[in-house]
Amino acid sequence: MEKELSWKEWENPGDPHLINRVQWDKRELESMMLPFYQDWHGYGKAQQKLENELSKFTGISSFNLTNSGSTAITTGLKVLKEQGRFKPGDLILHPVTTFPTSISPAIDYGGIPVFIDTKPGTYVVDEDQVERAIKTHPEIKGMVLPYLLGNIPNMDRIKNALGERWLIEDSCDTMGGYFGETHVGNFGDFAAFSFYGSHHMTTAGVGGAVGTNDKELTNLAKSIIFWGHDYETHDGGKTNTEFLKRYATKTMGNDFQMTGVQAGFGLAQIEKIPGFIEARNNQFKELDQFFKEKGEKYFILPRSDPKSKPSWFSYPLVVKEDSPFTREEIVEYLTENNVEIRPIMCGNILKQPPFSKIEKITLDNEKFPVADAIEERGFFIPAWGMSENQRKDYNQILEKFLEKYD
Ligand SMILES: Cc1ncc(COP(=O)(O)O)c(C=O)c1O
Repeated sequence: MEKELSWKEWENPGDPHLINRVQWDKRELESMMLPFYQDWHGYGKAQQKLENELSKFTGISSFNLTNSGSTAITTGLKVLKEQGRFKPGDLILHPVTTFPTSISPAIDYGGIPVFIDTKPGTYVVDEDQVERAIKTHPEIKGMVLPYLLGNIPNMDRIKNALGERWLIEDSCDTMGGYFGETHVGNFGDFAAFSFYGSHHMTTAGVGGAVGTNDKELTNLAKSIIFWGHDYETHDGGKTNTEFLKRYATKTMGNDFQMTGVQAGFGLAQIEKIPGFIEARNNQFKELDQFFKEKGEKYFILPRSDPKSKPSWFSYPLVVKEDSPFTREEIVEYLTENNVEIRPIMCGNILKQPPFSKIEKITLDNEKFPVADAIEERGFFIPAWGMSENQRKDYNQILEKFLEKYD
């Protein structure tokens, strides 16, 4: 029974090496039943419990679950709009190497991105450019900061450069990452997490959460997620006297909520997250050692700030310009050998049609050498914490390719 229900483990050479496997068992199935046992499918115990567990794990004082990481970011922006801290026409700092919905909600609401480049091998903002952008455009109002692929830039420098400006940490690609002794998500006004199926943990395939250390922000976020309701004037309509206030509205809301079934799945996953993270980190380190020995001539390898302890989502590589093979050649080889690869998100988002014509500001005449290299020669490979058996086969596939160029 256990075996039949378990996620399918990799068994034989030839089985695919995927970017991620959702690792689940009977615990997820049982936990998902919580709303059925309670005969209550609205916001309830499963969601509350997962919000509390997220706080315990990250140190962020409160969470509101959402139906995705994208809507977690949107919630943060909508709260800032409610507070008058974000208005149409405001300048928003953002890296050009990003995930589309990290910046598209801000553009949708009339924000104008000030795009900057990343530092080679980091996939996160170049701190020099953050400082320069704010000096050049002091009217910048805030920043959406993606920890792309789980890496973390120097938060001391970024916080210092931002001063009082708002910050939304887009932590969708990571959980368990620290800068110094502080878990990501504790540096800004809001932190957005994603529980999409390929991420560190999942809420049955999709889901997200928005966290904050500010009570007023968390109340406003809850209102945005639940139709704009004013939860302070009523208790959800459970008593007769409060009933007529049920649709009292506090914000221009939406419906971004997570179901109890999803939250139940997430509750079983968050119990396992320390193990998931450790396995990911171990495989990342193993790959890093391998590429440092055998691949440094051919690839730009991932690197991070000395003070940050990233919790990587995958292993990213950029093929060097003078390498004896092209990205397309290695990608073709890997794909033929059943290794799933992905491009590094939107390498340079300005090359994507919907973003190519938006109103924007750039620092160096629209020149983004790091993003262009990522766009033209970058890709990432799985590092989700495979079993030893699987890693053996996967590592051999990688080794075999590089042997040709020894
Ligand atoms: C950096 C980043 N931000 C935002 C998102 C959006 O999260 P979701 O897929 O949960 O909407 C993703 C998606 O994976 C992402 O990688």
